[in-house]
Amino acid sequence: MQVGFIGSGNMAWALARGWGDPVLATDSGSGRAAALAAELGGEAVASIRELADRADLVVNAHKPPQLAEVAAEVGDAARVVVSILARTPLAEVAAAYTSAAVFRIEPNTPVELRRGVLAALEAGGVRAALARALDDVVEA
Ligand SMILES: NC(=O)c1ccc[n+]([C@@H]2O[C@H](COP(=O)([O-])OP(=O)(O)OC[C@H]3O[C@@H](n4cnc5c(N)ncnc54)[C@H](OP(=O)(O)O)[C@@H]3O)[C@@H](O)[C@H]2O)c1
Repeated sequence: MQVGFIGSGNMAWALARGWGDPVLATDSGSGRAAALAAELGGEAVASIRELADRADLVVNAHKPPQLAEVAAEVGDAARVVVSILARTPLAEVAAAYTSAAVFRIEPNTPVELRRGVLAALEAGGVRAALARALDDVVEA
């Protein structure tokens, strides 16, 4: 499964290192996406839209105030969105991504060592949407 990170800061690094597989990543110009991709054998992509097009699962690893701006750029390209935005209700994220299966997780940095704790929530009806998305992945 191809995972893509929108934002390549502290928590994206922790999650991606814990995940351990190559990832797609973006940043807002710092170069941290390229560094992350270099470490994990993945790729820094030029735009959020391209990342959403290519990833099976998109992780929102930017800051909470950027939700609307980032969601507008993703548009309907994402099939599965996992939000790690702190203090941002799942309903708010689901309202921004109406065509995706949306999850919210609250991770902590020990996920980098696969010793973290994750609180997870799913939006209503998300299991059916996820099953459809995974069908697409399996067929691809
Ligand atoms: N740190 C934690 O322990 C923790 C725990 C739970 C949840 N969270 C949540 O995790 C998220 C990230 O936190 P963090 O500590 O990792 O923040 P961070 O280190 O500041 O990283 C934020 C990343 O978002 C990127 N970014 C900003 N605007 C963007 C845009 N328009 N398009 C693409 N990328 C953009 C930044 O790009 P640049 O690299 O170019 O600046 C940076 O890579 C936050 O929503 C936070 O609430 C954090």
